[in-house]
Amino acid sequence: MHFQATTPLLLSLLATLFLTTAAQPVKSAYPEDPAYPETPTYPKDPTYPETPAYPKDPTYPETPTYPKDPTYPFFLPPSFWQDPTHHHPLRLSSSDSLTACLCDQLVFSLKMYSSTDSTHELHRPLDGVNPEDRKDAPLGPEGIRWTLASGASTETQTYYVALDDGCFFFLQVAYANFGFGPNVQLSYRYYDPKNPSISDFRSANLSASKFKLSEDNRSFHMNEVSSSTKDGHNFSVLLSFKEKAQFTLTAETEAFRLGKGRTTFGVGEDASYIAHDWVLQSRSEGIITLKDRSTRSLNGTATLVHAIQRGRPYALATKWRFAVAYGKRLTCNMISFQTSEKWGSQWVGQSGIAIDGKMLGATDQVFGEPDGEEEDVVSGYSIPTGQTYWCEGILSDGRPCKVKFHAPMKQLVERIDLLAQLPWMLRKVIQTFVTRPFLYQWWETVKATITLGDEVIEEDIQLLQEASFMR
Ligand SMILES: *[C@@H]1O[C@H](CO)[C@@H](O)[C@H](O)[C@H]1NC(C)=O
Ligand SMILES: *[C@@H]1O[C@H](CO)[C@@H](O)[C@H](O)[C@H]1NC(C)=O
Ligand SMILES: *[C@@H]1O[C@H](CO)[C@@H](O)[C@H](O)[C@H]1NC(C)=O
Ligand SMILES: *[C@@H]1O[C@H](CO)[C@@H](O)[C@H](O)[C@H]1NC(C)=O
Repeated sequence: MHFQATTPLLLSLLATLFLTTAAQPVKSAYPEDPAYPETPTYPKDPTYPETPAYPKDPTYPETPTYPKDPTYPFFLPPSFWQDPTHHHPLRLSSSDSLTACLCDQLVFSLKMYSSTDSTHELHRPLDGVNPEDRKDAPLGPEGIRWTLASGASTETQTYYVALDDGCFFFLQVAYANFGFGPNVQLSYRYYDPKNPSISDFRSANLSASKFKLSEDNRSFHMNEVSSSTKDGHNFSVLLSFKEKAQFTLTAETEAFRLGKGRTTFGVGEDASYIAHDWVLQSRSEGIITLKDRSTRSLNGTATLVHAIQRGRPYALATKWRFAVAYGKRLTCNMISFQTSEKWGSQWVGQSGIAIDGKMLGATDQVFGEPDGEEEDVVSGYSIPTGQTYWCEGILSDGRPCKVKFHAPMKQLVERIDLLAQLPWMLRKVIQTFVTRPFLYQWWETVKATITLGDEVIEEDIQLLQEASFMR
């Protein structure tokens, strides 16, 4: 085995690390599924409708002149304008260890003395955004679009669905380009907490040459999976792979972006960045046919996250926390990542909150506090033994808003070794010298407390959590 020859393969794999479930589950930790992966000759289902050319829906409303809503609420965390690091991008000296105890004065003097060193400059989504511009946070007529950014990048569209029957479905399409020919990683999972043996998971590597974007860059089509949208808010998704699924997402809150939508690492054209757009709350309707040939409903509440990571994932962020909560009244997601040491090991977060199907706003004040940590012997990472999540901000009417919940992290859906597909030797080499990416997913019912001014709402939520580690 020549390391040289496998390098492109390795890099294209690494390209899919961020928020992806690129590889197979770690076998040892889970009961063997005898049905998996022996489905090479999946029989064609004659009753399944063929939909080669996605039919045009003449009743689908055109939304060319999307009206701007000047009253659209938004958050302005009070700390935002007081915190000087928001005004002055934090510059780090070459000594990364300084960053942990930076006080305002130090930030200022580092800025003064390192003005020619722009390479370690981190810009958060709200840096330099004035309050008026925050009203533009809803994407409006733009909607969510693919960028297929030049250079090394990974762009993912992930659909999370909390199903009405308590199950969970997720589908992710990751377009990864590291200059060795792009590829598309398709992953999906159906999870039934009452019957965890029904935890259909599949991940496939597809050639990106078949990935076709629509002219407006909103929809994409591949034979195996396609997503079609007229407005970048409402989506029709078709999975036509070994398992089949078809679902539509009707946006209940419109597509949203926090501030500039991206955290930029460094300056200039070639700067790396991590960007997110999302539709926080949609109604999902559809069906899926599982590996056991049973058909299940995909009716539920969905969240769509469109993420772009330009640059090498492990060089930008080494830890990710992701939570999305679905209650009778609340839908809330929290995404945060910790930058690599080079970028100061800083947590960067964003969150959107909707109550009763109405977007309250988005904030960068997102926090997570583990109860404790325990080493996972399989991955070697310290995994939280429970975690409290909260996010807060000020509503445009001046009321403070806070969402908080505690996750026991007992019901692990999956631990995924993102390098599991590589040969053992190569895997060990990468794990030792480059990165050891693992992703964990939990699906649980917990209690959330929502504070809106004087009003306190408590409710049960279904909670999806992901934690990923790369170092
Ligand atoms: C994924 O597919 C692409 C294109 O088909 C190929 O070049 C690449 O080597 C594949 N990667 C893996 C990990 O199989
Ligand atoms: C679509 O994306 C391409 C390149 O990514 C860009 O050149 C083009 O202008 C975009 N089209 C629209 C309608 O945004
Ligand atoms: C999404 O579709 C629904 C139902 O067709 C429509 O009422 C709504 O305006 C659409 N949303 C956007 C943001 O276009
Ligand atoms: C899903 O929702 C649609 C529309 O409300 C309904 O027609 C269908 O029966 C539902 N499916 C299931 C399995 O509940």
